[in-house]
Amino acid sequence: MPPSFDVRLDDLTGARAESREAAQDSDSILAGPPSELGVNKSPTRQNQRYGDDASPTRQSQHHGDGAWSTHPVLGDERTFYIETFGCQMNVHDSEKVAGVLLGRGYQQVETVDAAKLVFYNTCSIREKAAQKVFSRLGEFRKHPDHGKVIGVLGCVAQQEGEEIFERAPWVSLVCGSASYSKLPTLLAQLEAGNRRVTGLDTDTDETFETEMTRRDNPFRAYLTIIEGCDKSCSYCVVPYTRGPERSRSSASVLEEVRKLAGAGYSEIQLLGQTVNSYRDPAPRGKTFAELLVTVAAVPGIRRVRFTTSHPRDFGRDIVEAIDSVPALCDHVHLPVQSGSTRVLRAMQRTYTREEYLEKIALIRSARRPISVTSDIIVGFPGETEQDVAETLSLLDAAQYDGVFAFQYSPRPNTASLQMGDSIPEEEKGRRLAIVQDRQREIQVARNNELVGQTFEVLVDGASRRPGQWTGRSSSNRILNFSSPRSDLLGQYIQVRATGASPNSLVGEQII
Ligand code: 5AD
Ligand code: SF4
Repeated sequence: MPPSFDVRLDDLTGARAESREAAQDSDSILAGPPSELGVNKSPTRQNQRYGDDASPTRQSQHHGDGAWSTHPVLGDERTFYIETFGCQMNVHDSEKVAGVLLGRGYQQVETVDAAKLVFYNTCSIREKAAQKVFSRLGEFRKHPDHGKVIGVLGCVAQQEGEEIFERAPWVSLVCGSASYSKLPTLLAQLEAGNRRVTGLDTDTDETFETEMTRRDNPFRAYLTIIEGCDKSCSYCVVPYTRGPERSRSSASVLEEVRKLAGAGYSEIQLLGQTVNSYRDPAPRGKTFAELLVTVAAVPGIRRVRFTTSHPRDFGRDIVEAIDSVPALCDHVHLPVQSGSTRVLRAMQRTYTREEYLEKIALIRSARRPISVTSDIIVGFPGETEQDVAETLSLLDAAQYDGVFAFQYSPRPNTASLQMGDSIPEEEKGRRLAIVQDRQREIQVARNNELVGQTFEVLVDGASRRPGQWTGRSSSNRILNFSSPRSDLLGQYIQVRATGASPNSLVGEQII
């Protein structure tokens, strides 16, 4: 999901500290999940039952496989719990996995305790994110009699493969993000009593489509239109963990959108690591811009979002589509990663600073204002003070509405691993703070200019304080607002902005 302008009512009332430290593994200026792959704070944390041991890693050296020979089997007890780390793609993959399980007669439960089958859907974009699953798995270490069947899904599964069985012998299933289409088969094997099953191919040309997807967000439906990534950014694990690009046919996308509209969803978010690299596999298929227009025309659909866009494939036709179709949201997440052409080249981003700024100019030339957000990496190997200065001047030139900034994290199977990790962590932290401070100033100024304007808001939350609500504009801004009305959830209403903070607006409903 794109960086949200994300401070909720609780933040404004001081219930949650808005600090850099709070954004632990995202190093991000903003509190929402970033989108090129990003980090999503795991939705459920209530399952911290098995103690605090966060270092399971050398397990098998002590216990050996034999200690776990009484491996639990699934049997008739059909309950599952799934915890998700990482980006919107992962969140949506988990919804599909849940759909597959529900279709097999399983029941979803809210805690590890209550579950027979426990799945972790993992993220390996940065080291800190990848470590989280091992800390979760470590919680089972002291409880060999937990009686649960444990599965690791997602990017860490793809990356570590069967090594996970070595590190955590109590795991029964390892299935990478490129192999989910095999999940029903793998589940059947588990149900038949197999102790260890794996799905680790990345050469599959199928996309993961399910008959039934259990959607968690009642207002916004996610829909993956392209899986994998064919770019080869030198720092990024995604092409390795998610495999090559595979687009879904526009016919099947539209069929699902119609079903979603029929089920009451009015907002659709189309997902892909490089969503605008979409290539309809059908003969005479639709371009990405055409697909956007067609999805927006489905009766009942009021908002269509898409993320994440890659600058190289971002063309005028997308801007024209947004300009001519009001249901296409006026927000583009267009990660730049660095303002220095020298660093962009080392990152293999396929564009220069100037070419990127031309894309920004294209977006700014639209008839209606389109908000733009970005991702930035600081501390890439060999990044100089001059490079950082160029990133800061790019922030000034681009005038983003939100930025997710990250400290570079060397990852396995990436080209930049060979370049070393020359910038000390402390210096990365300093650069991160400089970038965040500059961006915060930009956002304060931009948001202040919006005070007095009216926004159409889809209400998606109610505060504990009576009369206080929260929702998003088409531009993905968070508006925390007051209204005397009740039952606003899920409604589109008009809100006038009366105040601004760096990451959100406050306002009041216009009645
Ligand atoms: N180190 C730090 N940040 C990274 N990202 C991707 N790979 C890395 C890495 N190895 C960032 C990029 C991407 C965002 C989701 O995560 O900015 O756009
Ligand atoms: Fe990773 Fe680059 Fe692909 Fe984005 S475009 S998923 S950063 S390789």
